[in-house]
Amino acid sequence: MANPLVEVINVSYTYPGGIKAINGITMTVEQGEFIALLGQNGSGKTTLAKLMSGLLKPDEGMVLIKGKDIKDLTVSERASIVGYVFQNPEHQIFASTLYDEIAFGPRNLGLPEEEVKRRVEEALKIVDLDKPLNAFPHLLSVGEKHRVAIASVIAMKPEFLILDEPTTGIDFKRSLQLMRILLKYRENGGSIMMITHDLYLAAEFANRVIILKDGIKIADGPPEKVLVNEELLTEAGLTPLHVTLLADKLRDYGFSKNIIKTMDFVEKFIDVLRRK
Ligand SMILES: Nc1ncnc2c1ncn2[C@@H]1O[C@H](COP(=O)(O)OP(=O)(O)OP(=O)(O)O)[C@@H](O)[C@H]1O
Ligand SMILES: [Mg+2]
Repeated sequence: MANPLVEVINVSYTYPGGIKAINGITMTVEQGEFIALLGQNGSGKTTLAKLMSGLLKPDEGMVLIKGKDIKDLTVSERASIVGYVFQNPEHQIFASTLYDEIAFGPRNLGLPEEEVKRRVEEALKIVDLDKPLNAFPHLLSVGEKHRVAIASVIAMKPEFLILDEPTTGIDFKRSLQLMRILLKYRENGGSIMMITHDLYLAAEFANRVIILKDGIKIADGPPEKVLVNEELLTEAGLTPLHVTLLADKLRDYGFSKNIIKTMDFVEKFIDVLRRK
């Protein structure tokens, strides 16, 4: 395949305490993808994200970023390609003003302050956060902190954005708002991997779903294939989508359980009504 962004080749990782969190994972991320990474608590999602962004080094195997071994890249080289938004924004936010928080990454890239300012303003606009630049980030709401964390990564303009459970603790409306931000980012050429427990978001927005279980990749494919596989989902400790379960119950009316998107269900529903 042409110029993959990230290649994870037979990677394993064991934490100092002895837990083997990632066990022989191989996967490739192509430019333009929107991957949803699913799996139960402790299945290794965050660890995989950290390996892909260079925050952890594999014990076995290797991670290539645009064909180069991640361990041979400088921090800025890495950061301009892969951006990782932490699971808990509290772990990422440290500056005393909103401006300094978002400016931190671009400054580290060695950009002139004028460009840094432009990037801060642009990133705040992208995440739709209308707060004074001197606001104290720790006093913002959970949802706002999430958006600050995303903005501070987006400001480095990475080609590949990894978000670790970005919709946890925010309401449905805000989740959809975030999805719109991500879709726009993707339209502009960006690639995304979103770690989530929300199968609905995976079904509606991702083009590929990867499922981990005990550090092993047990599924990797398009949502319409992976998310209708009840056996696989059960094995991974995940509950099938409500629309899929409902469509399955309505088989007598011509539905099939291969429905994962709400609009597909609605269209089918209208179709059935029309034929009655
Ligand atoms: N810093 C650490 N030290 C030791 N073990 C860890 C550490 N971080 C994670 N682990 C262990 O590694 C395994 C994978 O953890 P990881 O955080 O990658 O899972 P996860 O899929 O992101 O889970 P969650 O959905 O809860 O965020 C778990 O068994 C976890 O307890
Ligand atoms: Mg995690």
